[in-house]
Amino acid sequence: MSGKATLEYDGKKIELDAAIGSENEVGLDITKLRANTGMITLDPGYGNTGSCTSDITFIDGEKGILRYRGYAIEELAEKSSFMETAYLILYGHLPSQKELNDFDSGVAAEAGLHYSMKSHFDGFPDNAPPMAILSSMLNTLACYNTELLTTATEGDGFDIPASKIISKVRTIAAWAYRTSRGRPYMPPCPNLSYSGNFLHMMFSQPFDLHEIVPEVEKAIDLFLLLHADHEQNCSTSTVRMVGSSRANLFSSVAAGVGALWGPLHGGANAAVIEMLENIHTNGIKLSDYVDAAKDKNSDTKLMGFGHRVYKSFDPRAKILKEHVDRVLKALEIDDPLLDIAKQLEEVARHDEYFIERNLYPNVDFYSGILLRAIGIPVNMFTVLFAIGRMPGWIANWREMLSHNQRICRPRQVYTGENLRPYVPIGNR
Ligand code: ACO
Repeated sequence: MSGKATLEYDGKKIELDAAIGSENEVGLDITKLRANTGMITLDPGYGNTGSCTSDITFIDGEKGILRYRGYAIEELAEKSSFMETAYLILYGHLPSQKELNDFDSGVAAEAGLHYSMKSHFDGFPDNAPPMAILSSMLNTLACYNTELLTTATEGDGFDIPASKIISKVRTIAAWAYRTSRGRPYMPPCPNLSYSGNFLHMMFSQPFDLHEIVPEVEKAIDLFLLLHADHEQNCSTSTVRMVGSSRANLFSSVAAGVGALWGPLHGGANAAVIEMLENIHTNGIKLSDYVDAAKDKNSDTKLMGFGHRVYKSFDPRAKILKEHVDRVLKALEIDDPLLDIAKQLEEVARHDEYFIERNLYPNVDFYSGILLRAIGIPVNMFTVLFAIGRMPGWIANWREMLSHNQRICRPRQVYTGENLRPYVPIGNR
């Protein structure tokens, strides 16, 4: 299928080719618009702008569909693991047993950090936000791997930095947490799974190894898998944008961490818990909270609700909601915040404001309760999101380069002063 659209303005006409995706999404190609007409398009927030074509992830926000490389998120959540899914996202196909073993052992072998990186951790104050540490330390990794600061998209030049980052991001996260608690660095344990090793590096003590509960290990793995990619969101677009200048993978993903940190994006999982704690501690009536969230004059939002793309249930939220119950049961935890979250969801989903605007719970609404039950501190929630999203960022960086994309450089419509003469300071 192909097609054309005609755009007419001020007597100028241009024919636009339509790029049709494999799920029949239509993108009007405006790449020649400025050259042929002098005009640009205006779309602050990029709600209608396709920045690329991509083979990685498909989302149908109206139907609540999410697929990685064509596989439904529900099926991957049930049958796959984070490592297998990371391979799928990076390389485009489900790995054979040998490919998976090689990938797994390649990632496992990279879990350690150069010991002199300890001095960098020591330099951070006790209350340093772990997202700031993570972003800094990903850039620091570049200093220890100068031979890998390339833009290779195939072979060892890509595979080695990709496995290093996927592996070490988890060690950096655990080390950042331990530094903030004044605990010694816990080296990785080669026999453990990706998620088990993370729990070990977070919570083991030198003479008291952390007991890894299988339900918790599974829950962390699932959390990471569900966050592994989400097409052109704010942080992934940041990684692509930075990489488009031909910046290396380390600095591109470090920039992604910065974008993810914000409460409107990955930071929402922590903001949800803060919201639920505020409601719980201060005994706020749920209907009053929802009223405040609807009031455009207040700063209150219903955190964990709404999404730029999903206009129905976020499929990841559905999966997580089921697992939260399972994990709380396995750990014999009764969390009042879960009850508040469920009631809040009920109130909001029957409220005209949320119905009219198609605002549903997103992935962050239940993920915080899951992480809290596992003992992950709130300021580490978004760090876990970053660990999960790493395969998606890396795959998008690679795809962007393999499409030989031009440097990203949006235009603007200038609305400032016209030319005016400089006024000497004494005359102002
Ligand atoms: N609470 C109250 N009102 C909301 C909310 C919310 N959580 N989300 C959207 N709205 C309102 C908007 O104010 C807007 O109202 P209006 O039409 O009267 O002006 C309307 O719903 C439509 O908003 P959208 O255009 O769909 O929102 P946008 O795409 O600009 O932003 C976002 C999406 C940032 C996720 C927003 O819904 C939000 O702030 N949610 C809370 C934060 C959150 O949970 N973020 C995590 C997103 S998922 C992720 O990044 C992993």
